Amino acid sequence: MTIDNKEKLSRKEFFKKFSFLGLGILAVGIFLKNIFLFISPEKKEKTYHKYLVGKKSEIQSGNAKEIAIQGKPVFVINLDGKFKVFSGVCTHLGCIIKWEENKNRFFCPCHQGVFDPSGKVVSGPPPTPLTEFDVLEEGNLVYIQVEDKKKGSWT
Ligand code: FES
Repeated sequence: MTIDNKEKLSRKEFFKKFSFLGLGILAVGIFLKNIFLFISPEKKEKTYHKYLVGKKSEIQSGNAKEIAIQGKPVFVINLDGKFKVFSGVCTHLGCIIKWEENKNRFFCPCHQGVFDPSGKVVSGPPPTPLTEFDVLEEGNLVYIQVEDKKKGSWT
């Protein structure tokens, strides 16, 4: 065997070793990527749904209107031209509240829970204020924006 042949062989071996090394690094990279994808939580953009809840001109200042969205009661209230929207479900045990215009309050008949027009608890057993929705106003229309969820109720 000549020196030239030895060099050719060693070059062959060199490329063989490095091609195996390259494949090994690629395989480890793919493996680590799959491990990372398996253990990391899914990052999905939140999506929202917009529901029309009423016309501004239909609700006088200091008054509320009850509507149902997907069978759930919701109250739209006009507080000096600023519109707020609350769930009609009491935060105590889930009874349906009602708006009492003459007393300027939301009232839950089940256990006499009282909420002020901004949804805060005034008296009774409710532990937290009424659930408030994000409101969008477009011209004369009032909408609420609700995050889409795969499961469960939105009120
Ligand atoms: S359910 Fe409303 S006060 Fe109890």
